[in-house]
Amino acid sequence: MLDLLLHRAQVATKLFSISKWLGMCNRAQLAHKYFTMNRLNKHDRVFVLTGAGVSAESGLPTFRGMNGLWRGYRVEDVATPEAFSADPVLVWQFYSERRQRHQTVVPNPAHYALAELERKLGDGFFLCTQNVDSLHEQAGSRRVLHMHGRIMQSRCSSPACTAAPFDDGNSYRTREEIPRCVACGALIRPHICWFGEVPFEMDLVLHQLGEATLVLVVGSSGVVEPAASFVRIARRGGARTVYVGPEVPANHGYFDEVLEGKAGEMLPSFVKLLLG
Ligand code: OAD
Repeated sequence: MLDLLLHRAQVATKLFSISKWLGMCNRAQLAHKYFTMNRLNKHDRVFVLTGAGVSAESGLPTFRGMNGLWRGYRVEDVATPEAFSADPVLVWQFYSERRQRHQTVVPNPAHYALAELERKLGDGFFLCTQNVDSLHEQAGSRRVLHMHGRIMQSRCSSPACTAAPFDDGNSYRTREEIPRCVACGALIRPHICWFGEVPFEMDLVLHQLGEATLVLVVGSSGVVEPAASFVRIARRGGARTVYVGPEVPANHGYFDEVLEGKAGEMLPSFVKLLLG
């Protein structure tokens, strides 16, 4: 048992800054502290929020930081209803490239670790992703909410039209190629939540946040609302909050712990630690 605890402490020491404890504890005490502090119990409810960083090691570029621009445009320049009205071809070219890229990637160890956590926790687990890819589902996750929509779906661009979103992996590069809605004749757009629009299923997200005892955010810069505020809301409700990613996020002040490193390298060990 002591060996197991010491092993966990070795994993944990990689994950956490322990400098202030080193002078206070011997190794066995330290191991015990980490083990009990991180292991989930049957009352825990875990809310995970993922951002572009969780898919970075699969080969999908993030929006900000290096390689964040597309043909010199920021995402904020092409992901708006106004951009689509002004130049639907440009917007469809942006999403068509992303569609093609998505068809070539596979999940990485971070996606699999989260799927494993869900398998163990069942209804005590909820995954909200800002990502429009399907890598969580491909890794086996089932309780996934795509608050920003899905890259492989399209819908009518008219807010008044009630036609449902539909699966669509096609690329549209010219005005003539962009299809029109069979119900109302308006142009078809990607089924993505753009800047200035309300993300999908926010009532369910806020409900799940309110239930959470642990909020784990992975690979999100913490600058895009409303997702950037989830951690503040959860903290106010008493949840423990943990961030995993190679850079400290903009909303770092609301995290109890920031585990600096790549998701694919950090999450498998961290999930093991949580499951005990
Ligand atoms: P960002 O591109 O803003 O941030 C990506 C984060 O991932 C950064 O903080 C990186 O440090 C981190 N990162 C990079 N590599 C990583 C790795 N291997 N493991 C873990 N983290 C890593 O992406 P988001 O915060 O997701 O919305 O952006 C939020 C929203 O902004 C997106 O959903 C998108 C965009 O506009 C829409 O398109 C509506």
